[in-house]
Amino acid sequence: MEDISIYDGGLEISRIIFSRIVGNVVPALERCADGQEPLPVYIIHDMNVSGYVDLIDSAASASGRLEICGKYGIVASEENKTMSTVLDISGWLLEKEAGRNAFILAAGGGITTDMAGFAASIYKRGVRFAYVPTTLLAQTDAAIGGKTGVNQESYKNMLGTIRQPEFTFICASVLETLPFRDFMSGAAELLKTFLIEDDGWYGRAVTYLSGLRQADDRKEYLKAGGAALQELIHAAASVKAGVVSRDQFETGERRKLNLGHTFAHAIEKNARLHGDDITHGEAVSIGMVMAADLSEKAGVAEPGLKTRLLADFRSAGLPVDCPYPVDSLVDAMSRDKKAENGLIHFVLLSAPGSVEICDMTADRAARLLGTDTKNRKI
Ligand code: GLY
Repeated sequence: MEDISIYDGGLEISRIIFSRIVGNVVPALERCADGQEPLPVYIIHDMNVSGYVDLIDSAASASGRLEICGKYGIVASEENKTMSTVLDISGWLLEKEAGRNAFILAAGGGITTDMAGFAASIYKRGVRFAYVPTTLLAQTDAAIGGKTGVNQESYKNMLGTIRQPEFTFICASVLETLPFRDFMSGAAELLKTFLIEDDGWYGRAVTYLSGLRQADDRKEYLKAGGAALQELIHAAASVKAGVVSRDQFETGERRKLNLGHTFAHAIEKNARLHGDDITHGEAVSIGMVMAADLSEKAGVAEPGLKTRLLADFRSAGLPVDCPYPVDSLVDAMSRDKKAENGLIHFVLLSAPGSVEICDMTADRAARLLGTDTKNRKI
């Protein structure tokens, strides 16, 4: 499967590499040595993927061009996605006497890659880094495009940078061991990408996910359909790489990638307050349905879009009902880090594959949505 490049002004700034074998990350690392050998590699990883990290370590130890200088495991949870964990990571790098030539390799889901990328982008004013994303969410979204960061108080990704990894190494076979709920969290981001830019992939993704939902043996389905899944991931990565190449620093088009996310972040904030367990992808799925609803009510989409999304998402096994009253989301939406002068850049859908940015206040969005949203929790 072909590599995908991300460009800035015609120059390649990051590359997305595909392989079915985790150990094949070694040649990608070797290419980063640039004559400075051995390349000092520091691995930061989610504790849950130590098995894959050991595979990388043993493949790298056979290379004379790399030196694995240490491995640092983190607990990858939203609660731990803080400046304090980033300081722990940089403290470890200091203890290891990592210099400005250090190369950070982050392995794990989006929480791990966001934090390791952030640490790498500020340690000694920035060292080079690369990602081995091990969740569907990170392979299709979080580990592509250079956004790094941590949460502050109850607000998601409030502190961070945009800095590109040297490469993102995508190995779809690692998803065969991913817990199903985590897989589905990434499925929401996959559908989000194809709702932004379609080319037939949206329908294919719904069909694939619907088959997965109905499969008697999901692990077997993932294994047997590995090529189809890899194609979907490649297509999503290609859409994202295109958007980032055109608008790396999110001054315009990149905002499209936030489809469903203003609602999702507010839902996640409410969930934390209520002690409810809602994953990011589940919140994005609900948020996209709310965005479709808002699109119809704001006159951007023809009636029927929300009904179509409801049917598709249910068939794909994704949640669609917001467990909180829309009024309770207003405060968190107003504090969305992308809000400017009280206006939020809502991403609205005119049809699958076609979105537009519509600026409005959180109050107006809530008024338009009215009482249709299910109000199960006050
Ligand atoms: N996850 C949205 C973006 O990378 O812009």
